[in-house]
Amino acid sequence: MKASLGIFFLGILISCTAWCQSTEGILGLKDYYKDYFPIGVAVNNRTLSGDESRLLLREFNSITPENAMKMDALHPREDVYFWRDADSMVNFAQNHHLKIRGHNLCWHEQVPDWMFKDETGNLVTKEVLLKRLKDHITTVVSRYQGKIYAWDVLNEVIGDADDEFIRNSLWYQICGEEYIAKAFEYAHAADPQALLFYNDYNSERPVKRDKIYRLLKKLIAKHVPIHGIGLQAHWSVFEPSEKELREAIELYSSLGLQIHFTELDMSIYPWEKNKRPKKVGESEVLTPDLEQKQIDQYGKIFSIFREYKKNITSVTFWNVSDRYTWLDYYPVPGRKNYPLLFDQQLQRKKAYQAVINFR
Ligand code: GLA
Repeated sequence: MKASLGIFFLGILISCTAWCQSTEGILGLKDYYKDYFPIGVAVNNRTLSGDESRLLLREFNSITPENAMKMDALHPREDVYFWRDADSMVNFAQNHHLKIRGHNLCWHEQVPDWMFKDETGNLVTKEVLLKRLKDHITTVVSRYQGKIYAWDVLNEVIGDADDEFIRNSLWYQICGEEYIAKAFEYAHAADPQALLFYNDYNSERPVKRDKIYRLLKKLIAKHVPIHGIGLQAHWSVFEPSEKELREAIELYSSLGLQIHFTELDMSIYPWEKNKRPKKVGESEVLTPDLEQKQIDQYGKIFSIFREYKKNITSVTFWNVSDRYTWLDYYPVPGRKNYPLLFDQQLQRKKAYQAVINFR
């Protein structure tokens, strides 16, 4: 009797150890960062099935539709909304208890032509454009009210040239600066609980950072409903520096805004904006040197993120793995890039270890 009891308890002990080990084996980024912030990823239709969706569910607890909620995708004609893809992403997230960041409500790219034109092809008036913007934002935000907890309301409003404050887009040409505050007001009226973000890239580079700061400060002074700043974080192994990143986090936080890193990836090439063809002989190899730089840079930025966990309330990667990344096409079509934490076989890269190696 004693012997069989002993064997019984030994059996339980062995099963427990095996269970613990296998649980350890399936911890993902979201688990390692559970005391810090949600870890998200941008998704497209492919990400929601097969091996990519298994990886997604193991590693991440938040999603952002990569393209499905942009204006041209959702609202191709004035009287037509296309909901299928966006709805399936929202359903997927709800079924799996993932958070959803909505992206985005107003941008100068991926916006349908009809938005700015009347039936004769001329530019519409400010009144008409603001009415269209209001209709769009109200319809989209209301549809997902209570499901999408945070929206990128305005994307990339600040100009790239050092002396350009607000980007000279059609939104700006037709409405002046006013459309910025209006977009936030429309979104807030449609879902008063949703957190509203201003989202931009190169937001740690000092000149652009200061212009973004100036805009945010103005919005806050006018009591515009804005809750956070989205730093896109399309970075490279060469930037940002530790100093730039810290200064940006501290400056934006000083406005009382929460910080989301919304589109994180780390190119192995220096940052470029303008599309160009691949140069003859241009290297596309992830050399040991670049790989090491990427490991170090990922390790460094995540250790800074952890330090500022009071201010940072979400970190989202832009795509799942190096199998598919928008950076394979942009800004140099056909040039392979390796910006993420999972390789083309969906295996964890060494940079992944640098990110979780703090416990
Ligand atoms: C910007 C946009 C994103 C996406 C990326 C490229 O950062 O905010 O929606 O289009 O460019 O994928």
